[in-house]
Amino acid sequence: MRGGVLALILTALTACSSKDAPSGAPLDAGDAGADAPDPCKPGASITPYVRSGGAETTFPAGFRFGAASAGMQIEKGLVHADWYQWANVAGKVARGDKPDDGPDAFAHLEDDVAALVAAGAKAYRFSIEWSRIYPTRESFDKNEPDAAGLAAYHKLLKALRDAGIHPMVTIHHFATPDWLDDITKPKEPQGFERDEMAPLFGEWAKRMGKEFGAEVDDWITINEPLVLMVGAYLAGAHPPGPPLDIDRMFNAAKKLVKAHVAGYRALHESDTVDAGSGHAAWVSIAKHNRVFKPYDACEETDLTAAKKTDYLWNEWLYNALVFGDWDDDADGKYDGPNDKKADPALKGTVDFLGLNYYGVSTVSGALKLKYIGGLPAYDALPTDLPKTDMNWDIYPQGFRDVLRQLKKYSLPIYITENGVGDAKDANKSRYLAEHLWEIGRAIADDGIDVRGYYYWSLTDNFEWDRGFCPRFGLFRIDYASPARTRTPTKASALFKQIADSNKLTAATIDALPAYSSPTLCPGAR
Ligand code: NOJ
Repeated sequence: MRGGVLALILTALTACSSKDAPSGAPLDAGDAGADAPDPCKPGASITPYVRSGGAETTFPAGFRFGAASAGMQIEKGLVHADWYQWANVAGKVARGDKPDDGPDAFAHLEDDVAALVAAGAKAYRFSIEWSRIYPTRESFDKNEPDAAGLAAYHKLLKALRDAGIHPMVTIHHFATPDWLDDITKPKEPQGFERDEMAPLFGEWAKRMGKEFGAEVDDWITINEPLVLMVGAYLAGAHPPGPPLDIDRMFNAAKKLVKAHVAGYRALHESDTVDAGSGHAAWVSIAKHNRVFKPYDACEETDLTAAKKTDYLWNEWLYNALVFGDWDDDADGKYDGPNDKKADPALKGTVDFLGLNYYGVSTVSGALKLKYIGGLPAYDALPTDLPKTDMNWDIYPQGFRDVLRQLKKYSLPIYITENGVGDAKDANKSRYLAEHLWEIGRAIADDGIDVRGYYYWSLTDNFEWDRGFCPRFGLFRIDYASPARTRTPTKASALFKQIADSNKLTAATIDALPAYSSPTLCPGAR
């Protein structure tokens, strides 16, 4: 990558929250004692949540209330996935947790479908795992899929259909077959940095569309593409790991875009059957977007860094896939030698927008690299906001910001993920209600076309490098019991109430307990 781009990325994408916060002092939006808070106080742009107005929020008819999951996080026996190998390397996953000790979803398929029904969910997002269907390179090249694997996913899809639950299928959710991402050879091109990835991913997508197209209409090619890129090639929180290098990351990200496009076209080619939605394949990505605030709103370099990070993280990719506007040097302008406007090779390669929303980050212009949990900008900056067990700030108001930002793409939006790690089940209901409330207001007041909401996640699961500590589930998994019992959280009852009535009242939210302090997980940053 050329130096200019490197500098921009360093100052923008990766420079974050890195100024030392004032020693131990929480940010107080309210305790300054002054009527007008000091706008120049670091972190002053992150203010406490004040619910948008109204006594109730109703969701449009047919709004799809669902829950989400991913194979590597809930299935047992994905022994040919890069994450399986990665979790066996000491130090990569907190407490040495292993995916095989998780919810064992295939053995509890009926339990999970029953859980969806009990929560009033009408939709389920899950992944079909490439390494289960094609455990070896040979099996892929000869197109000899694993029959038991195919049968397991067909069984799940049938059980969902019988229960009246609409499927959304992800065909790449962070885990890659180990024959494409070999963590023992990180110095060779691995995962999405391989030149062959686009054609192979296209072929994988084509086969999935053909196999499952009569049962599935909604497809996600790649989950959280930029989180994956930063995590795998820059932060080292995901395989293949070192050498961590920004050029390597951007090189892989560009190939990932090609892989998505190949997957998009292949799914349209192979899935031509309407499985019940009124259309055949509808394809997108699940994109993690967040709010970026300047560390110091009166500091020009912080403002610029926040703006650039916002562009790179929230807009760069969707600009390419929706408008065909390709910013090859990632400088925010379309005047570079390899930049293109309205490139037909890219334009229109998402049919809807998938949005994963988890919160807010502060960004500074100071050049200190910080990647936390694979993301560029979780704050070291203490704030007064309530926290999750992952130590993430809870920021429901940001939902409206990220949704408004997506409005320019003029496509329907599905919230493909939103949820909270909360082992005590003390904060989950309020988190769920406040976030759904803001989505409802965005639909009603901002005219944003949100069609559905998938809570992350249906059950507790393997939270990547954090292991099993963070409990996001609407249903709690008893990891100590061989039965892996699914126990409903209080939030699952609230979810059902909202999904069944298609509305949420301010009084319901007011009646919920205030946020209490989290049970911080090891490594929570
Ligand atoms: C986004 C990822 O897609 C999912 O795998 C993860 O568990 C959640 N965020 C929570 O961190």
